[in-house]
Amino acid sequence: MNSRVVAGSRVDDDAQYEAGLRPRSLDEYIGQDRIRDNLEVSIAAARGRGEALDHVLLYGPPGLGKTTLAYVIGNEMGVAVRATAGPVIEKPGDLAAMLTNLQPHEILFIDEIHRMAPNIEEILYPAMEDYELDIVIGQGPSARSVKVPLPRFTLVGATTRAGLLTGPLRARFGIVHRLDFYEERDIHEIVRRSARILGVPIDEDAGRELARRSRGTPRIANRLLRRVRDFAQVRADGTVTAEVARAALELLEVDDQGFDEVDRKLLRTIIDKFGGGPVGVNSLAAAISEERDAIEDIYEPFLIQAGFLDRTPRGRVATARAYQYFGLTAPGKDSRLW
Ligand code: ADE
Repeated sequence: MNSRVVAGSRVDDDAQYEAGLRPRSLDEYIGQDRIRDNLEVSIAAARGRGEALDHVLLYGPPGLGKTTLAYVIGNEMGVAVRATAGPVIEKPGDLAAMLTNLQPHEILFIDEIHRMAPNIEEILYPAMEDYELDIVIGQGPSARSVKVPLPRFTLVGATTRAGLLTGPLRARFGIVHRLDFYEERDIHEIVRRSARILGVPIDEDAGRELARRSRGTPRIANRLLRRVRDFAQVRADGTVTAEVARAALELLEVDDQGFDEVDRKLLRTIIDKFGGGPVGVNSLAAAISEERDAIEDIYEPFLIQAGFLDRTPRGRVATARAYQYFGLTAPGKDSRLW
């Protein structure tokens, strides 16, 4: 795990803290308008028919609110959410136990669903499709299969990349939504809401500054808000002004773009060691001593969306914007263009 203040991934002390800030209903949920509208229709329709909601797959970079949405869905459906995660389910029996303990229409939330073992994933197929558990009793020639009926439930799966899911699993989700980085004004709105809940006085400009440096990610915005609040309390009079926010962010080494040293190292390595790219993700991972998965799931989605990195069939390429960021000129181009 990394401890970057701008990491989208969950850091231990976030979990408890986020609970108080998490929106509980679709009305309270800010941003991701298309997903919100679609879920509103799906939920109202299921409720109207007195049925369980269809299975939902949520995918996208960490920190954008997949878990939050799972609980919002539970709340809107008026049912409990039972949560687990792909890597935590060790034995087929663990998942079977969770499934058989569900009440009708309840939600089973599986985070990191792409990291389930194949023999466990197979249990989900008949469970999702026919609300049945296929259990094999005995061994060898006398082995036989018994079907155990399950209540009608909703599986909500979350993953950083839908492409990591096997075809058969993906095909069993009726509702599939990709969460995107939030607009800056939505993050600003989230900062305002969180500051209100936490009782932090924050100026409009300071909120905008935080929003601008949060990589379109609510979890990062909430984390930065908390750090900036500390700074305001210790080094100022408790109010988060733009000046206080800037000084706090400088101390945290979160720059104007919301980049930290890992982002800078990644871009700088492509430029300095690989002539700007293209460079394969494995070579890049080795050069900056990061996991390939971390690069693909955490670091590069934002760099790509912000226009600093391109993913081409031959590898990753630093864009002209990345060169410009470091005060450099992109090779082979007329510098006047930049
Ligand atoms: N906190 C974290 N994500 C949020 C969201 N999408 N809307 C409101 N508050 C949030």
